Amino acid sequence: MTPAKLRVVLATGNPHKLREVTEVLASPWLEVVPLGDFAGAGMPREGVKSLRDNALAKARAARDFTGMTSIGDDTGLEVDILGGAPGVSSSRYAGENASYDDNVRKLLGVLQSISRHERSARFTCWIALAFPDGREKLFRGHCAGHITFVPRGTNGFGYDPIFVPDGRKSTFGQLSPALKNRLSHRGRALRSLKLYLRKTYREMYARQDSNLRPADSKSDALSS
Ligand code: IMP
Repeated sequence: MTPAKLRVVLATGNPHKLREVTEVLASPWLEVVPLGDFAGAGMPREGVKSLRDNALAKARAARDFTGMTSIGDDTGLEVDILGGAPGVSSSRYAGENASYDDNVRKLLGVLQSISRHERSARFTCWIALAFPDGREKLFRGHCAGHITFVPRGTNGFGYDPIFVPDGRKSTFGQLSPALKNRLSHRGRALRSLKLYLRKTYREMYARQDSNLRPADSKSDALSS
């Protein structure tokens, strides 16, 4: 049998996300290529409607630009006492061009007088998969936890230094990348995606689909 790989494009310009995604999806039968590797590729602007729609828009834009199977994701932090805010506006919570630090400072300020027991929150991640033939599939992952009073840790990105996942004492910013991936919203959604991609790969492999690209490895890519 000829070893071969399924090649998918990841529609993100965020190096932290790229690292998390490639770590979880790493497999001999799968190759993840960042959209930035394609000259002239641009990311669609995020809308304010829903995480799901934003994920789909990113996957479709990458698929339309490259003609290849593509993945898009969008994540929001939903704080219960704020009615789910910042949610779909997580990246712009403190303003249109806000930095991660600006957003963290704003959230901590808004929650200043809120007790530990009312600081519950969750990350929600949507991942969309868009195939060249028009098929689409969605995956979702949650991670429940609470917001700290001060930032702790320098790992990760975004709201990681102020989010403690349930069952842990450390923030995502203090946990190792591998542990964050095991517990996180994105890790969970990605593991569902990976199972689906593996099934897709097996089907393509069985019919010797010409869209599979030859693998570099001499070992049978299906064996792991
Ligand atoms: P994005 O649009 O999916 O990049 O996510 C919107 C915002 O949510 C980002 O700007 C980050 O501030 C935050 N965010 C997304 N994923 C994570 C994560 O895994 N940890 C912490 N913050 C995140």
